[in-house]
Amino acid sequence: MALSADSAVLRLDPHRRAALSGNKRIELTAREYGLLDALVEKEGELCSKHALAQLVWGSSIARGTQLVDEYIRRLRVKLGDEVIETVGDEGYRYTEARVLVAYATKKGSTREVAEAIAARLREHGLKVETRPAAQVRDLETYDAVVIGGALYMGRWHPDARRFLRRYRKALARLPVAVFAMGPRTMEEHDVQESRQQLDRALAAVPEILPVSVAIFGGVVDPSRLRFPFSHMPASDARDWSAIRAWAAHLATALEARLSAGA
Ligand SMILES: Cc1cc2nc3c(=O)[nH]c(=O)nc-3n(C[C@H](O)[C@H](O)[C@H](O)COP(=O)(O)O)c2cc1C
Repeated sequence: MALSADSAVLRLDPHRRAALSGNKRIELTAREYGLLDALVEKEGELCSKHALAQLVWGSSIARGTQLVDEYIRRLRVKLGDEVIETVGDEGYRYTEARVLVAYATKKGSTREVAEAIAARLREHGLKVETRPAAQVRDLETYDAVVIGGALYMGRWHPDARRFLRRYRKALARLPVAVFAMGPRTMEEHDVQESRQQLDRALAAVPEILPVSVAIFGGVVDPSRLRFPFSHMPASDARDWSAIRAWAAHLATALEARLSAGA
């Protein structure tokens, strides 16, 4: 299921028995916390009412499954209806929002940036997968997408352009963030030129409205380039603190969108 109707971004604070959703902190009773913790532990899996009743109330309790229903109702009042999914009469499922970080690279520097972004998003409690853009088969299991690609000779990497075209319908509905690499310096003139190149690629898919767009400095390693590019001076204009700051800002924006059921 794409979109976030059945998925959430929650972090649990066991010391204070609270759930954190975006910037919101939700205080829970011991039973509510125990039930939510059991569902989160089995993230993505169906938890039967019977198993939940045993876990939270112990095996001796009569009418345990009714208690589960009642406490799920209480959790939904506090967390929002979409956080816990009802699976028929059998039980409940908690599914976390998943973010895809897809990248299009020739020499690997864009992949390294994609991985740094993914690591930062994970620090914010998001579930993240990184994949080469050309290897993504569908977006069904994702609730948000970051797509990054290198610029070469004035154009965004073909795999990144193809990714936008191929998934344009899904991407028009999902929160999407975009980045491109990479000017030789972060001087305004250089960055603007790269930004225009990226904007040309984005203009081909006007229905996709990114939540954020970034240009990061690029890497030139002449030892890995063919003549005449092998004569270019070596440079690495990646600003890792700017990359991490962008990812942290993105995490906050995505958490807000996803926990609001965007
Ligand atoms: C031959 C060549 C052409 C390039 N053309 C552009 C360009 O038009 N615009 C730009 O911003 N960066 C350009 N770059 C910089 C690359 O985007 C940068 O090296 C980037 O880090 C490469 O990413 P990759 O290692 O993931 O392939 C060019 C680099 C090379 C070697």
